[in-house]
Amino acid sequence: MVHAVYPGSFDPLHNGHVDVIRRAGRIFEHLTVAVANNPHKSSQLFSVEERVSIIEEVIKDLPGVYVDSFDGLLADYMKQKRATVIVKGLRAISDFEYELQMAHLNRQLNPNVETTFIMTATRWSYVSSTRVKEIARFGADVSKLVPRVTLRMLQGRYPEATAG
Ligand code: PNS
Repeated sequence: MVHAVYPGSFDPLHNGHVDVIRRAGRIFEHLTVAVANNPHKSSQLFSVEERVSIIEEVIKDLPGVYVDSFDGLLADYMKQKRATVIVKGLRAISDFEYELQMAHLNRQLNPNVETTFIMTATRWSYVSSTRVKEIARFGADVSKLVPRVTLRMLQGRYPEATAG
C-alpha cells in the first residue's frame, strides 16, 4: 500500500487544503496530513497541537486519512514512516518554482520519494493561510474560506472575527 504524505504548515487549515486532502484521499489508500513544526516561522498563529486538532476534526469521516506532526526535514520523516509519495497542492504558476526546488531537494535527500501535485480547485486558488489570518485579524468574514472548526479557532484568537 502506498503511503502518501501531505505536508504543510496548515496555520490554519483552509478550504484549499481540505480540497487537496479530499482528492488525495481518493487516490491514496493511506494519506497522512503532516503538520510541520517550524518554531522559527514568525507568522505562526496556532501551535502544532492546535493545527493538528483542527485537521483531526475535518478528516474524521475520511477513511484512510490520518494526521501527524513532524520536526526537522520532511525527507527524514518520510524515511521514518516508510512513506514514498509527497502530495503538494498547486494553486498557481507562482507556486511552481518553489515547489519544483523542494521536490528536487527532497528527492536528493531521499531518492525513494516522489513528489506529486494536485491542482487546487479554481474556487480556492486565491486562498492562503497568510491571507486568512490577515482578514480575520482585521475582523472581516472568513467563513467562506475555511472549515467551521478553523473559523471557531480564529474567533477564539480574534474575538472580533465575524461569525459568518
Ligand atoms: O504550507 P507550507 O508552509 O508551504 O509548507 C512547507 C513545508 C512545511 C512543506 C516545508 O517547509 C517543509 O517540508 N518543511 C520541513 C523542513 C524541510 O524538509 N525543508 C525542505 C528541505 S528541501
